[in-house]
Amino acid sequence: MPLITWGPALQVGNKTIDEQHQKLIDLVNRLNDAMRAGHSKEVLNDVLTQLVDYTVYHFGTEERLMAEHHYEFSAAHKNEHQKFVQEVGSFKKRFDQGQATISSDIMTFLRDWLARHIMATDKKLANALQKSAAR
Ligand SMILES: [Fe+2]
Ligand SMILES: [Fe+2]
Repeated sequence: MPLITWGPALQVGNKTIDEQHQKLIDLVNRLNDAMRAGHSKEVLNDVLTQLVDYTVYHFGTEERLMAEHHYEFSAAHKNEHQKFVQEVGSFKKRFDQGQATISSDIMTFLRDWLARHIMATDKKLANALQKSAAR
């Protein structure tokens, strides 16, 4: 069973952002599946690295859109991104050093952060982008 299911609640209404969110959710689900299947550290590391890299890429896309459209809440939005990258980055470091493993706590953190950020912060951005495009 997937940890997060893509659906209308997670849709923000911007094609690029929605497609990237689906890919992110797919990676979170793959990491969860790999953990539950008891896969090796190498396999977990492979999926975790893809998730970290894609997250950074995705945040870059949103931040480029914010700059292009002079989005008024970009500082607060970027701050949320930065904190998440820092938190996941420090987890990845501990994982690499063998001090942490993928747990259901980590998966719950990823799921909740992503769902909350998408439904509130990204939705607000997508609404502003739509207004900006209509002008
Ligand atoms: Fe975002
Ligand atoms: Fe996003």
